[in-house]
Amino acid sequence: MTHPPHIETLDLDALQNIIARQPASGRSSTSLGAAPGPPDGATLSLSKGRAALIPVLQEAQAHYGYLPELVLEEIARRLGLPLSTVYGVVTFYAQFHLTPRGRHTVRSCQGTACHVKGGRAILAAAERALGVKPGETTHDMRFTLETVACLGTCFLAPAIMVDDQYFGNLTARDVESVLEQFE
Ligand code: FES
Repeated sequence: MTHPPHIETLDLDALQNIIARQPASGRSSTSLGAAPGPPDGATLSLSKGRAALIPVLQEAQAHYGYLPELVLEEIARRLGLPLSTVYGVVTFYAQFHLTPRGRHTVRSCQGTACHVKGGRAILAAAERALGVKPGETTHDMRFTLETVACLGTCFLAPAIMVDDQYFGNLTARDVESVLEQFE
């Protein structure tokens, strides 16, 4: 993941290419190089805007690292959608983030299998090691801490996931050494 941009350095022009890449924008991807669309200031029809919204949000988040308010306003304007529609989608899906994210995401499982094997203590150890609560990001932008209902690896309980790596059969004392593996 890229570092979150400062709000005053946001490159909103990148949205033009992101929107032009969507099939729902009415242009094929092969036409992008010469004439990305829609032109600055133009908007898509409501139905095309709705169809393009989720892929545009996904690409915008990949580009900016999260979805700043300014970006959402610009997406709403360029897709011809009410800002409330854009916010409705962003807040409905857990994949979208309105605040900057750390370079690594720590997911502490609080599902039943992990809970009965000490998942709460694992989460407490992660909170202590990182100095943040679930949903928060460390000041150095290294980690974002989250809780999940099940990682799908109950045989590893209690388990955590850091990015795409699973760590299981943990004790609270293991947590710090797990986190130290991530820069
Ligand atoms: S309950 Fe924790 S992995 Fe399933």
